[in-house]
Amino acid sequence: MVIYCGDEVSALVVDVGGSWIRAGYAGEDTPKVVVPSWVGSSEVTEDEASATTKTIRNSKADSQDPDVEMGDATASQSGSSSKDAAGGQGDVRVKNEPGTCRKYYIGDTQASTWRPNMDIKTPLEDGLVADWDIYENIWNYCFYNRLRVQPEENPLFVTEVAWNTPSLREKMVELAFEKFNCPAFYVSKDPVLTAFASGKPTGLVLDCGGTTTSAVAVFDGYVLKKGQTYQNIAGDFISEQILAQLKQDYQKEVVPRYRVAQKSAVGPGEPAKAVLRDRPNTAPSFDHRMQMQAIHEYKETVCQISETTFDLDALKVRPQKPYEFPDGYNLQVGVQRYQIPEILFQPDKFIVDKTREVRLNGKAVSLSANTGVNGTGSGNATAKPLGIPRMIYDCISACDTDVRPHLFSNIILTGGSTLFPGFVDRVNYELQGLAPGQRIKIQTPGNTAERKFGTWLGGSILSSLGSFHQLWISKQEYQDSGASIVNKKCQ
Ligand SMILES: Nc1ncnc2c1ncn2[C@@H]1O[C@H](COP(=O)(O)OP(=O)(O)OP(=O)(O)O)[C@@H](O)[C@H]1O
Ligand SMILES: [Mg+2]
Repeated sequence: MVIYCGDEVSALVVDVGGSWIRAGYAGEDTPKVVVPSWVGSSEVTEDEASATTKTIRNSKADSQDPDVEMGDATASQSGSSSKDAAGGQGDVRVKNEPGTCRKYYIGDTQASTWRPNMDIKTPLEDGLVADWDIYENIWNYCFYNRLRVQPEENPLFVTEVAWNTPSLREKMVELAFEKFNCPAFYVSKDPVLTAFASGKPTGLVLDCGGTTTSAVAVFDGYVLKKGQTYQNIAGDFISEQILAQLKQDYQKEVVPRYRVAQKSAVGPGEPAKAVLRDRPNTAPSFDHRMQMQAIHEYKETVCQISETTFDLDALKVRPQKPYEFPDGYNLQVGVQRYQIPEILFQPDKFIVDKTREVRLNGKAVSLSANTGVNGTGSGNATAKPLGIPRMIYDCISACDTDVRPHLFSNIILTGGSTLFPGFVDRVNYELQGLAPGQRIKIQTPGNTAERKFGTWLGGSILSSLGSFHQLWISKQEYQDSGASIVNKKCQ
């Protein structure tokens, strides 16, 4: 509970990441809602929509299913979603052209249930909101379907990447006040919140999540822009490369679970004997997402990082791990389980599928099969993808000399991809080599769940502090000063 305008109300805290959405109440230890940020959507006619969907905004009692479909034809027909949202009457679809609308499926069950022609998409690109319709629908889903709150009654606290732009922040504040009619709003940067959750006002935050890995210095609760780096070599990139490795080393096409009707036991490495379902009109994005889901499970079960330098001969004699895919194909995975995650540390040597785009600070750097790393015309001509220890070291080195020792002794590792066994030891080992004689201290939350929602937790703690009260942007301030107030008040 927070005191807002003399009343005790719960502020809502929402963290939309590249892989997961976390939402809940300020002051709580864990988010109430944790669902994938990959959202299904399909074109439907208004008639189809009204026949099959539930109105969610005015049917709180009705939506006991946490993954209910979202939609309300009445609001869509009126063509005025903002008015309806503000009034709590509910439009959660986007009108494309007369007679059709896009219906969204959010939540674990909904987005991974097969439907003909259902596309899968995330609202973010390099951590920045690129699809505002999906983003809005995600807030909508969190408030009305899951938390069952009226956003017009609760201050809203949201997270953003450190490199978010002023214009995107303005769109965010507009969404909060114009569409959801929130009484107050605040947006804060991920690394500041992670540092806050770790009890550190100053530190270097290395976040290796699903879609991006970033290194950002935080000093006294503020992001230092110097040296801030992000790239798309993170959990999803690793899973894409595992897909390529399985094809290259085992001639294995990963069959996602939704296509398997029945499977039979086979020996290790033998072709699968599975009966597959016929799924006509499957959108390629859905099939790919489901394949990635299968690979994420494989990766999180068998993969590991070498704790010290990657030594092929030493790793070859380590125990193999068994793994069975959804169609029954199974393997004893040997040194391969170390090879692909090594990309996080040596991207130029271990990337298998070099056609995948690598982006550093939002610009493409291309990997040439024969000559290593080259720049592209539109990209970053001299930049190379960086290993994680190098990202940390370069970021700290770009900061003022007197700050550096504080950063080296407060390195905070966060994000789901830091959970690879061996990850923390390896970062420590390499940093000792890069900065000999420097006092290096790495902080990682002991609780693994906290590494996946440290940012949300920081927001929950910060927004529930009594002293935070004066920081909220009130609706009145927004109406008086316009959207640009977000760039003045949310530093
Ligand atoms: N035990 C594990 N071992 C290795 N990787 C893991 C483990 N658990 C989760 N991951 C990976 O972590 C990634 C998700 O991390 P996280 O929850 O930090 O993402 P996010 O904050 O939503 O995304 P982003 O930071 O890119 O916006 C996924 O790629 C997932 O496969
Ligand atoms: Mg994250």
